[in-house]
Amino acid sequence: MIIYRAKDYKDLSRKAANILRAQIIMKPDCILGLATGSSPVGTYEKLVEWYQEGDLDFSKVSSINLDEYKGLKPDNDQSYRYFMDTHLFNHINIDKTRTFVPNGLETDSEKACKNYDEIIEKLGGVDLQLLGLGHNGHIGFNEPSDVFPCGTHCVDLAPSTIEANKRFFTSESEVPRQAYTMGIRSIMLAKKIIVVVSGKDKAEILKKVICGPITPNVPASVLQLHADVTIVADEAALSQI
Ligand code: F6R
Repeated sequence: MIIYRAKDYKDLSRKAANILRAQIIMKPDCILGLATGSSPVGTYEKLVEWYQEGDLDFSKVSSINLDEYKGLKPDNDQSYRYFMDTHLFNHINIDKTRTFVPNGLETDSEKACKNYDEIIEKLGGVDLQLLGLGHNGHIGFNEPSDVFPCGTHCVDLAPSTIEANKRFFTSESEVPRQAYTMGIRSIMLAKKIIVVVSGKDKAEILKKVICGPITPNVPASVLQLHADVTIVADEAALSQI
């Protein structure tokens, strides 16, 4: 596990974006695994900036996102498809038909998850997976549990996740209670993983992820077993280590 200590969020975003940039330069037709949430926003801003300066070409890149709320339409401004379009895809030359997000509108969970696993398999593996870290240690929406779930599955969001994500909605009651998420196995199969973590409120969980026991109660602790993980965290997030 490599840990890059960034001064602050801006520095973290620049460092993380540089790792993604290197990946795209080294393998222009790479498969990127992407995350939503506050943590990668600055990283995406940097990528857009470099694209606009003519320094990056996404024309051959494919992407696959970690998760999506069940029940939200793609054009709902809280859906993760909408997030990806507005923060990244609308501003770069990626072919949108090669950008994948679970289908939140599919009410049949089994079908939605099976379809997504087939897409992941067809893509042939993620080259670089970008992750954020939930306050409870979740990655994607793999919430603390007794087991590490393998493939894409439908989850009941943990109360702490609903609480953390309510800031994006008008009220807590509007936060969807379920989501589709890639499983731990799919995440762990990525060739390279990069985790962006910012803020003092993540310091305690980040310490558990890096130094604690590997347990499905702290889903991200499984990353200790991956051969190529880079954590890019700011000083506040690393303050307990
Ligand atoms: C989102 C995702 C989540 C977030 C996590 C941290 O696609 O996979 O695991 O990365 O909830 O969210 P932020 O960055 O908003 O603190």
